[in-house]
Amino acid sequence: MCRNVWEERGRGYRNFSCCCSGRKMEPAMRSLMSDNSRYVESFRLFLKNSTEHQCMQQYIESRLPDAVSSIGDGKSVINVLGVGSGSGEIDLKIFSKIQARYPGVAINTDIVEPSPEQILSYKERVAKTPGLENINFIWNKKTSIEFELQVKEEKTERKYDFIHMIQMLYYVKDVPATLRFFRSLLAADGKLLIILVSGSSGWSTLWKKYGSRLPLNDLCLYITAGDIADILSSEGAKYQCYELPSDMDITECFIDGDHNGDLLLDFLTETCDFNKNAPPELREEIMQDLRSPGCSSMKNGKVIFNNNLSAIVVDGD
Ligand SMILES: C[S@@+](CC[C@H](N)C(=O)[O-])C[C@H]1O[C@@H](n2cnc3c(N)ncnc32)[C@H](O)[C@@H]1O
Repeated sequence: MCRNVWEERGRGYRNFSCCCSGRKMEPAMRSLMSDNSRYVESFRLFLKNSTEHQCMQQYIESRLPDAVSSIGDGKSVINVLGVGSGSGEIDLKIFSKIQARYPGVAINTDIVEPSPEQILSYKERVAKTPGLENINFIWNKKTSIEFELQVKEEKTERKYDFIHMIQMLYYVKDVPATLRFFRSLLAADGKLLIILVSGSSGWSTLWKKYGSRLPLNDLCLYITAGDIADILSSEGAKYQCYELPSDMDITECFIDGDHNGDLLLDFLTETCDFNKNAPPELREEIMQDLRSPGCSSMKNGKVIFNNNLSAIVVDGD
């Protein structure tokens, strides 16, 4: 499930369920990340065939208001930090909840996002969205580690009332250290929101079984929200977890020669043209597991992959 990756990740994540270490990758296969246009095409199809953004939206409507209910108490400015914000679609929904809770209060926001294309789309989105006048956007074209180094070099102390890292922790090299650093930036009443695939999702099943045989090129870590919860617990952090049910229709993967099916299969396996390049035994095994109960269920004749996510809300110390 590599979604858009920038430097800094690698094989260093051995304490948790990272399947990157010790892998025996099949030689003919190459990572989907090596072909950006095919990656983008398959990612768009993933969004179209899944309820990924809808389930986040539902979380934001139903649960986020509670999470942000005291972050700005007594403050004349609310400081927000988005890490790996992408094109800002989810960020703007988050802002609307903070604005609803604290009408008229100024918001300063740092956006940490390494992709220039994403920053451009985010700026375009901001330009055409009304009601953002009280938000001051500061764009940081950086990875999270570059931002961390910058903050550490600064003399002044930074504190944020709300930090979010949505579907991005797969791409950092040292997850525990990253979590520690961003937690240290939280104000006393602040909250850190993390969204990742759930440990009960089909992704988790797939990664555990096949991670070592698929071509990740060190671009991505197979971590789930369950791993994050373990790290947070081991560090004594206070947090709440919410399961966000989501699914993905992968029926087309089982239609021979279907272009969309091929693209979805590439996204699921993070492999460029998996159908053509995977060794037949591996292909057969994965196809069988993809429709088995560990990954999917049958609904109205369709194969529905379990794309469940989890939201974790961490309290400031
Ligand atoms: C799957 S997208 C999620 C975007 C957005 N948060 C959302 O949920 O719609 C992952 C984002 O993380 C960014 N990213 C990748 N590696 C990163 C890193 N090392 N530090 C910060 N962001 C990174 C990508 O450019 C991309 O925009």
